[in-house]
Amino acid sequence: MKVNLKGIMPSISAQDSAHTHHVLDYYAECWLSRFSDGHNPKSKAMHLGYFTTDGLSNDDAKLKTNQLIAEILGISKNENATIVDLGCGIGGTCVYLAQRFSNSAFTGVNISKEQLKFAEHLRSSEGLTEERIQLELADYAKTSLKSSSSNYVFALESLCHAQSKESVYAEVHRILADKGVFLFVDYFEIRVPDNREEEDLLNIFRNGWAVSQYIRDHKQQLLSTGFHSITEQSLVDHVKPGIDISYETAIRKLEKNESTDLVRNHLLACKALKQLVDLELIDYRYVRCVK
Ligand SMILES: C[S@@+](CC[C@H](N)C(=O)[O-])C[C@H]1O[C@@H](n2cnc3c(N)ncnc32)[C@H](O)[C@@H]1O
Repeated sequence: MKVNLKGIMPSISAQDSAHTHHVLDYYAECWLSRFSDGHNPKSKAMHLGYFTTDGLSNDDAKLKTNQLIAEILGISKNENATIVDLGCGIGGTCVYLAQRFSNSAFTGVNISKEQLKFAEHLRSSEGLTEERIQLELADYAKTSLKSSSSNYVFALESLCHAQSKESVYAEVHRILADKGVFLFVDYFEIRVPDNREEEDLLNIFRNGWAVSQYIRDHKQQLLSTGFHSITEQSLVDHVKPGIDISYETAIRKLEKNESTDLVRNHLLACKALKQLVDLELIDYRYVRCVK
């Protein structure tokens, strides 16, 4: 696989290092071999699918999530836009959008060199060039993108990993042009746990998913960073079928008892997620705002 990535491995402070290594190890061990084995063959997604009433498969529902990102951002068909995907996984969303918004240029940012190698392979196998999709190896709180250079920035299930959400908001504000739009879709802890059992479930999910801290106080933080026109909506009813599928799969895999610690913790997190959503402790939402 040819590798030609922009950027160098970001320097990591000692304080951030343990968490960053947890994130990198988590994706390397729990996701990359699955993609090598053909996981999510159409979407190449590491996100939940958006289910509607039309009987979509899980993989097709994940493509629909990409479509939803474009709709909520408000990208128009022939727009000449610059669009940044923060925490781009193996490039599935960038490729999907680049194929549909052919006048726009995309940048996928990821802290994982291994995932970006997969993304580069996907980009070339889909016949897309570096002019259409740039791949940048960077921490999304400190990219090398020029100030005021982007029209749209989104983070699909990636902000949950950030140790300082405020640093990411500040970086997004820096790279967005005036009136540029920022969208993030993620897991939100929506109430304080009532008891020890609920607290344990939240910790199982956080640990198994390599979540640093749940997103909190985002409205206030976005406003003080300089964003306005903040809108927010739950998508949980649409992603619940995918959460239920992961729950059932996790139970089956856990019964085999063959996993490494990281994979086992990930499966326990998939199991906890359904319980947390049923308890209305965790919601899956989007937040959109404007610079
Ligand atoms: C759940 S995956 C979602 C990937 C992709 N958005 C998708 O929907 O397929 C979260 C992504 O965030 C990336 N990530 C986590 N921490 C990051 C950081 N500090 N800087 C950049 N990317 C990060 C991970 O490597 C991973 O690709």
